[in-house]
Amino acid sequence: MKKTKTGIYGLDELIDGGFPTGRTILVSGSCGSGKTTFGIQYIYNGAELYNEPGIYVTLDERPSLLREDCLNFGWDLKELENKNMIRIIDGTVARMGFPTEEEFALPSTGLDIDKLLLEILASIKRFGAKRIVIDSVASLGLTLRTEEDIRRGLLKLNYLLGKAGTTSLLISEIEVDDKRFSKYGVEEYIADGVILMHYIGVGGGITRALQVVKMRGVKHSEYIHPLEITKRGIEVKRIEQADI
Ligand SMILES: Nc1ncnc2c1ncn2[C@@H]1O[C@H](COP(=O)(O)OP(=O)(O)O)[C@@H](O)[C@H]1O
Ligand SMILES: [Mg+2]
Repeated sequence: MKKTKTGIYGLDELIDGGFPTGRTILVSGSCGSGKTTFGIQYIYNGAELYNEPGIYVTLDERPSLLREDCLNFGWDLKELENKNMIRIIDGTVARMGFPTEEEFALPSTGLDIDKLLLEILASIKRFGAKRIVIDSVASLGLTLRTEEDIRRGLLKLNYLLGKAGTTSLLISEIEVDDKRFSKYGVEEYIADGVILMHYIGVGGGITRALQVVKMRGVKHSEYIHPLEITKRGIEVKRIEQADI
């Protein structure tokens, strides 16, 4: 099985070398658990370390703020965008119906899932992307009303990403005490892998952790691993490195 390295400190060794190439992985967690950082670090490392062009579709956070936040980790997205190694697609405007200053954006005619999926697929082909992140799928589903619509939309998304051949991350936000792994409770069945990010406030401190819930065809760690967000980005620790 071919592997796509995340380059995220401590993660690849937990999943036998990386994500299965060409597959779709769900990254799930509550607000502030580090999902966006995880996604952008995956795309940044792909471009910077492994020479793989990547696309980041951002539906929740404006691209300008994303670029600004990433500079805190020492990741200059703009430089890699100029080299055509990273493309940020602004989907926030599609949600709000405002015009954008971004060069690449999803159409601001509202979120028609079919149009959106075709637009994303066309971008992957044009750009030659090997990696893609959709942050978040919950926001893609805003205009889908019934669970059946959502399931069908996600199945389509997974099918198209599979055809495109990218190793894809779908980001999904869940409530802190949610028993499900994703907003609609169907994403995890569609994805080939599920990574769960935990964010637990303890007293005045904060404990972060990461868990590989599923990774089809891969012998992966079954522990809940401590995680830190440092000035280098996300760092996953081995259990024995836990600071407890
Ligand atoms: N430069 C940094 N150094 C340390 N922690 C940071 C830094 N930037 C962001 N964080 C932490 O990461 C959190 C945001 O993570 P984010 O990836 O946006 O979460 P999510 O997308 O799951 O809501 C912030 O609330 C903050 O605690
Ligand atoms: Mg986020």
